[in-house]
Amino acid sequence: MKIMMVASEAEPYAKTGGLGDVVGALSRHLAGLGEHVAVVLPLYEVTVPVLAGRPQTIVSEELPVALGAEQRHVRVVRVDEAGVSWYFIDDPNYYHRTGLYGTSDDGYVDNAKRFMTLVRGALAIAAVEFAPDILHCHDWQTALAPVLIKTGHNPSHQPGSLPTLFTIHNLGYDGLFEKDILTKIGLPEELFHVDALEFYGKVSLLKGGILHADRISTVSEAYSREILTSEHGLGKEGITRLRKGDLVGILNGVDYTRWDPATDPVIAASYSADDLTGKRDCKLDLLREFGFPASAAGRPLFGVVSRLAWQKGLDLVAAVTSDLIDSGGLLIVLGTGESGLEQELRTLARRYTESVGVRIAYNDPLAHKIEAGADVFLMPSRYEPCGLNQMYSLRYGTVPVVRATGGLLDTVQPWDDKTWTGNGFRFSGDSTEAFLGAIREALRLYRNRDAWTVIMRNGMTADHSWERSARRYVELYREMIQENHVAAS
Ligand code: ADP
Ligand code: GLC
Repeated sequence: MKIMMVASEAEPYAKTGGLGDVVGALSRHLAGLGEHVAVVLPLYEVTVPVLAGRPQTIVSEELPVALGAEQRHVRVVRVDEAGVSWYFIDDPNYYHRTGLYGTSDDGYVDNAKRFMTLVRGALAIAAVEFAPDILHCHDWQTALAPVLIKTGHNPSHQPGSLPTLFTIHNLGYDGLFEKDILTKIGLPEELFHVDALEFYGKVSLLKGGILHADRISTVSEAYSREILTSEHGLGKEGITRLRKGDLVGILNGVDYTRWDPATDPVIAASYSADDLTGKRDCKLDLLREFGFPASAAGRPLFGVVSRLAWQKGLDLVAAVTSDLIDSGGLLIVLGTGESGLEQELRTLARRYTESVGVRIAYNDPLAHKIEAGADVFLMPSRYEPCGLNQMYSLRYGTVPVVRATGGLLDTVQPWDDKTWTGNGFRFSGDSTEAFLGAIREALRLYRNRDAWTVIMRNGMTADHSWERSARRYVELYREMIQENHVAAS
């Protein structure tokens, strides 16, 4: 089967969050299952050094891409790696910028054009070079691909000629633009309609993807149910409910070649469920990194690695910090994002110099060190489509305390004092008290070394590898291709 992914990020070429982990790892795993996989990505400024030194094929020096009246020409570069053909759309005017999507608080004003260029480039590659059996698109940035195909606005692919799967990684990011964007990107104004792309007076690319793809998936089963409800639908539950019959949840996996304390080259010492001794060295190393004395190693260490966004509920972390310190704890936070949250965290670090360490940065090695060095990982997300960090924490024996939502609900099983089963702690609702309750439970267990070792091991031995999820995608693609053949015959 020939599968083409179109996405705005994939590690190791560009990543701002879990989408990058997922597109990278899923593509490699699909190739590992023997599928023929191509991924189309923008060639960002951050991608340039990653590609340097890798053998590259120039697929086209000047691939024409139409954006309404404007005709652009992009270079297309291919890198064959890990069994996957990675195609990069090189349009320096659009992609050589500091951020992938914008500044920390605002998206770039020409984002619709930037990502239409990606989508049109991908469809041209699909027509002239790769000829996929299935097109798999991710989030609002690539939502225009199903729209173009379903509405007959892509000359090379007539409606029904190429089945499309649209994965919602996050319903909270719409890709919202003014109405006049449609003509600027070469779409007719008739798509500004409640049954197409119009959403409360704006154009929502995400809505377009949801309504026009042949099938929809989300990144956990719990989230696939939640997005149908008014509590978690973020005003889009009317749209998702229309597609309920075509919607599935497939849990993301963990790339254990990158996230496993037994083999992780970045952390201070290796360890595993069978031999936990190295974890103490990792804690000491992390304490040193943040300027805390080795004597602090007896204190429970709480870690956070996160985009600093409303979604992640970090205001709750700020709200519980003084209680956490009163209970003897230390807190280490790594993150970047909204400037208000960055400021709030910096203030905390200044106020509690002996107990709180904050690094406002995007730093992958440090993320690994926190997963390895912390005792407890905090993830009070307001909503979490899947969440990868709690799964990384489980593997690193860093016990997660999470809000009971989305993928957190599907992966973190509450500790049970009677049976000594479970791998973490959950809380429900919005209150600081509920979050603190779960933290206190974790602290109580932390003082019982035998039980703590069991909860760590329960998490470390849980299997969240990509194998199973990648196979579920393969089944889904097959089903879609078959359905498409039946419909065409
Ligand atoms: P989301 O995609 O919503 O941000 P996930 O938990 O799915 O959340 O994935 C986040 C990914 O981004 C993880 O791989 C995590 O380690 C990484 N990450 C987030 N913030 C940072 C940061 N400041 N530095 C390094 N890695 C980060
Ligand atoms: C999104 C979600 C996160 C998910 C990631 C990868 O960014 O916020 O929960 O893990 O996508 O699917």
